[in-house]
Amino acid sequence: MSQIINGKEVAAGIRAEVAEEVSKLRAANGRPPKLVVIQVGDNPASSTYVRNKKKACEECGIECEDIHLPKEISQFELISKIDKINRDDTVDGILVQLPLPEHINERVVVNMIDPRKDVDGFTLANAGKLLTGEDCTLPCTPAGVIELLRSTGVNLTSKNAVVIGRSNIVGKPVSILLQRMNMNVTMLHSKTSQSDMEFYCRRADVIVVATGHENTLTDRHFYGGKSPIIIDVGINRGADGKLHGDLPEEVKAKYSSYYTPVPGGVGPTTIAMLMKNVIRAYKQNNSTYNAELLYNAGYRKQSEVAKEIFDEIEKLVSTNKKTVGCATYEETIFYIEDFIEDLAELKKKYTGKKEDEQIY
Ligand code: GUN
Repeated sequence: MSQIINGKEVAAGIRAEVAEEVSKLRAANGRPPKLVVIQVGDNPASSTYVRNKKKACEECGIECEDIHLPKEISQFELISKIDKINRDDTVDGILVQLPLPEHINERVVVNMIDPRKDVDGFTLANAGKLLTGEDCTLPCTPAGVIELLRSTGVNLTSKNAVVIGRSNIVGKPVSILLQRMNMNVTMLHSKTSQSDMEFYCRRADVIVVATGHENTLTDRHFYGGKSPIIIDVGINRGADGKLHGDLPEEVKAKYSSYYTPVPGGVGPTTIAMLMKNVIRAYKQNNSTYNAELLYNAGYRKQSEVAKEIFDEIEKLVSTNKKTVGCATYEETIFYIEDFIEDLAELKKKYTGKKEDEQIY
């Protein structure tokens, strides 16, 4: 008997956690996290996504500014706008709704976003860190797919996963995250033969389908196979005007152990993970001290930590002043150099970073 994975329920749980954290952060820092969503043109699907993102922000207590730009805007104007928002400290997260009009290079625009504010996880910096296993912002849909799998409670270590679709937004990052869960991952795509597709799908314990095509898999891919967990990432507007996944609902229900429906599966979790990413960006934007300190202090007020830092600087200054008072010119230069080194040490203590270390 197949069980439905209720994406709405999983997403509501994540949003509730986010809302609780937002209220703590707001109390500690005096302002809520802020997300800026940029939409260019009037693509109806994009308008729906933006509306849903704004609604989720409202529910979580996150401030959301929706910037709607005309579809004729030039690439230069758009990246100048992003540059300005990158430098605005009151904005924690930036999201450019895709697709963009054809005259604009999507990759150029996405990579203009400061990686620390990149709540989609689409910039080169975040995508590269994901590949190399470094701490980064995870793209929302893949992160949601993992949450949905976890919600089943099934131990997936050493199990076989098949990912169908190799997009930068879903297929590729999902395959990396599944490998991190110690699964054996096979990636299939539009050039995979149907017989290979059947071969791999019948042996799969998990199938993640993200092709953007209805009926990607049918009965023939499952006959005599295992009963996999099926995560259906597709959102396709069918000839009947309704939303359909990449698989027919009856096929998922017939052959899977668990499956995500469309609608009500992956979609809501994607938006919930976006909310999590906004919180992550907010913490980065507000941190003058390292994550460990932040954790130990239980979200100490920034002003308190700033005072502590200035007290330490004052101590350093007064120690050095005494010595400088009775020194030669050359010795004074030495003391200044020592003082600068002490300041660098102090900075390292509070940020965990060296002077010349890249932040992203
Ligand atoms: N368009 C469709 N899905 C997405 C998404 O996850 N992020 C952005 N920025 N645009 C999208």
